[in-house]
Amino acid sequence: MHIIHVVGARPNFMKVAPVLRALERRPGVRQTVVHTGQHYDANMSDVFFQQLGIPSPHVNLSVGSGTQSWQTAEIMLRFEPVVIEQKPDLVLVYGDVNSTVAAALVCAKLRVLIGHVEAGLRSFDRSMPEEINRLVTDQLADLLFTPSEDADINLQREGIPREKVFLVGNVMIDSLVRLLPQAVQNSKNGLPERYALVTLHRPSNVDDTTILERILKSLMDVSRDLAIVFPVHPRTRQRIAESALSVEQIRLLDPLPYVKFLALQRGAAVVITDSGGVQEETTYLGVPCLTLRSNTERPVTLSLGTNILVGQDEQRLRYEVANILAGLPKKGTVPPLWDGHASDRIADILTREFATKH
Ligand code: UD1
Repeated sequence: MHIIHVVGARPNFMKVAPVLRALERRPGVRQTVVHTGQHYDANMSDVFFQQLGIPSPHVNLSVGSGTQSWQTAEIMLRFEPVVIEQKPDLVLVYGDVNSTVAAALVCAKLRVLIGHVEAGLRSFDRSMPEEINRLVTDQLADLLFTPSEDADINLQREGIPREKVFLVGNVMIDSLVRLLPQAVQNSKNGLPERYALVTLHRPSNVDDTTILERILKSLMDVSRDLAIVFPVHPRTRQRIAESALSVEQIRLLDPLPYVKFLALQRGAAVVITDSGGVQEETTYLGVPCLTLRSNTERPVTLSLGTNILVGQDEQRLRYEVANILAGLPKKGTVPPLWDGHASDRIADILTREFATKH
């Protein structure tokens, strides 16, 4: 069985790594890694390949940045000849980024089987590019691997046949479980004893300067009581540079490698974020998470985990931070199947499906 894995953006490197490892141990499986080049800075890409032990991509489409449609279309143009030439039995796509939907569209047209890892998540907010990517990818996929029961319910509601859907758990947590011992050994390197860790990159929070400035101001308010450490995504870095605001009270860092970022999450008093993956990782780690969004495609982090949606409500943010500082954080539990073995379950299913059906 020849499997092509398609990845392109930072959050999906953590997802492909454990699946590659799990399949490596199966006889008769050949794997090819295709990097679309959606993320191309060394600290957004190469460093993750090194730390997670992902082999260098066999193919790099080097697509780079552009508008939503340009990026999606360009990945399609560059990926189609790869599929035609390599004739894989299955293409695995991950998460909800433009690389995911672009690869799925190419394979659907070429009638190549598609597996979607992290299927079924829905924010029900079509202003998010990722929601469009999730909806389309799931309609096209032949095998849908879900991280939690809510995803299965969403897929059922959208008419996806039950036999295509496999509840396997969270592959991102597989990487976390494997590398947490290294993170524990990571020194704090001069960071304050108590701090809030911040990440921000969603277009809805950073692309409009007025909104971004309001968020930065409320973070500066928080910084009077709690130091703020903020590794800045390139998209956000550009917008902060364009804004007139001085953010001296906030410690801005470059994007961090995986293990270092994990160590910072683990040691944080609270994480303030708009990332999807960070909502999940904090839930696993039991660290309080305040999400600067009005919805989440990962509701299990609210119902079972440590996540609280604060939207763009500055008062709510201050109130929740005060609760945490007063020793009253939201307590959570780890969702079912977030146990470090989701990728083994995917490998089992693929081996079984191919042995019986294909
Ligand atoms: C993408 C994903 C988002 C994911 C995020 C993680 C989509 C629609 N969005 O958003 O779901 O949570 O990745 O980071 O796919 N840039 C660099 N260097 C890089 C990559 C990007 O400087 O290595 C800059 C470029 O100026 C680019 C901007 O960041 O225009 C945005 O990058 P892009 O990949 O388009 O989207 P993200 O905001 O990263």
